[in-house]
Amino acid sequence: MRKVKLAPSLLNADFSDLREAVSIIENVADVIHLDVMDGNFVPNITFGPLVVQAIRSITALPLDVHLMIAHPAEYVEDFVRAGADWISFHAEVTRHPGEILGLIHNHTKRAGVVINPQTPAARIFEYLELMEYVLVMTVMPGFGGQVMIPEALAKVGELKEEASRLGLELEVEVDGGVKTENLEMVMAAGTDIIVVGSSIYAASDPRQAARDVRAILDGEG
Ligand code: DX5
Ligand code: ZN
Repeated sequence: MRKVKLAPSLLNADFSDLREAVSIIENVADVIHLDVMDGNFVPNITFGPLVVQAIRSITALPLDVHLMIAHPAEYVEDFVRAGADWISFHAEVTRHPGEILGLIHNHTKRAGVVINPQTPAARIFEYLELMEYVLVMTVMPGFGGQVMIPEALAKVGELKEEASRLGLELEVEVDGGVKTENLEMVMAAGTDIIVVGSSIYAASDPRQAARDVRAILDGEG
């Protein structure tokens, strides 16, 4: 049975206590998803390398840094230095994703491209061989707690099909609006890594919510 990875997003966590936020998910997460926003590419500002570095210092989990920023090439090195293990940036901010993917690989980190709900998967087919994963947005980027756009899930299969046609080992990550109610649909789409934010951190019992998500991913839910 395919092991689906869990990437909890801290975006809706209590930032006044990051140790607690990490401890809520540490036993069930495969990676920690960190949503970096610059108030330019998206109408929200979250945090930068300083906070990534702080989280790096309190967990051994890989850090999956999602750059929702207009000029990712200028910041790759800062996030590598801060402790990022995976770095993804949006296809919508560049006509040359190969260059930024190369920058990330120069630091031997996992590199991925993110596509917004309205961006066709085919837009990045020619670059798939240059990346380890694709992050498929199932909400418009910028905020946690939104309702999923299920039509975007079709891109998971399109990407997996094109990758296998090209003989590539490509992982597909889904991000936005994932809840326990739609988790099986996201898994059935062939997703390898699933981001879950507010349905863990906005839950009345976040630790239990995190365990519930893990149980479903492991086919025990
Ligand atoms: C939105 C972020 C997502 C989001 C996921 O721009 O990329 O990671 O925080 O949070 P939920 O699971 O609440 O949609
Ligand atoms: Zn994200």
